[in-house]
Amino acid sequence: MSLEISPSGQPFGASVTGVDLSRPVSADVASEIRSAWLQHHVLAFPDQRMNDDDLERFTLLFGPFGDDPFIAPIPGRKHIIAVKRAADETAPIFAESWHTDWSFQEKPPAGTCLYGITIPPQGGDTLFANQHLALEQMPGSLRQRIEGKYAVHSARNAYAPAGFYGEQDRASGRSMDIRPSDDAEATQLHPIISYHPETGREALFGCAGYIIGIDGMEQTEAWELITEIFRWQTQPQFQYRQEWQPNMLVMWDNRSLLHMATGGYKGFDRLLHRTTIGSA
Ligand code: SIN
Repeated sequence: MSLEISPSGQPFGASVTGVDLSRPVSADVASEIRSAWLQHHVLAFPDQRMNDDDLERFTLLFGPFGDDPFIAPIPGRKHIIAVKRAADETAPIFAESWHTDWSFQEKPPAGTCLYGITIPPQGGDTLFANQHLALEQMPGSLRQRIEGKYAVHSARNAYAPAGFYGEQDRASGRSMDIRPSDDAEATQLHPIISYHPETGREALFGCAGYIIGIDGMEQTEAWELITEIFRWQTQPQFQYRQEWQPNMLVMWDNRSLLHMATGGYKGFDRLLHRTTIGSA
């Protein structure tokens, strides 16, 4: 079997075949996958019959496990969460807004692996936005305003008790096991323009949502700038749309991308298992 990497035809993203991820892969194949991941940012591996051991083994090819706060892991595993929604669920779709996973951490995860188990016949795509392209094509006047600035990241609007997934959400009958906490109030600074630690390429890091302010800037002015960046960085020309199939593994690079879930599958179950790849 030899690895075949087929670019998606969209601005980025590729599909990978010629590898069986239910078995250990060689160091050479792992290194080819890493290169493809760095080049294409999102890799989709269709037709992979993987169990949770396989998902963990695959994740560990690329780094240590990330630390996944605020969502309880599935029973018997420390590093796998279930992204799930029942057919009759009425709570808002989980993660249906642009974000970079856990960007409020001191060392946010380098990547995320998501394995499709129950995939609805329609809807439920995942959207990605390439933050290298967004920065490269950003008007000089906007770039000048963010050069050298640090964004304040926090999980408070999402996972604090009063946040979107807080106590009120727990009463909504959501099937995901989200655990809001006061820990979500913590803040963390990251440069708005970051350098990818493996490729050296510049990118915008994070967006409004987990970004709640700009260091040293008055809040009204900061929020205007954050929303202006948001409008720029999420435009369709920077996007890739991942359509799911059952038994598909998708891995993406959080250092290059924003992503968000989408709905459109009312009346159908959706279940995926997720791990994060920690920063080395
Ligand atoms: C996520 O942000 O990890 C979830 C993406 C999805 O459900 O499509």
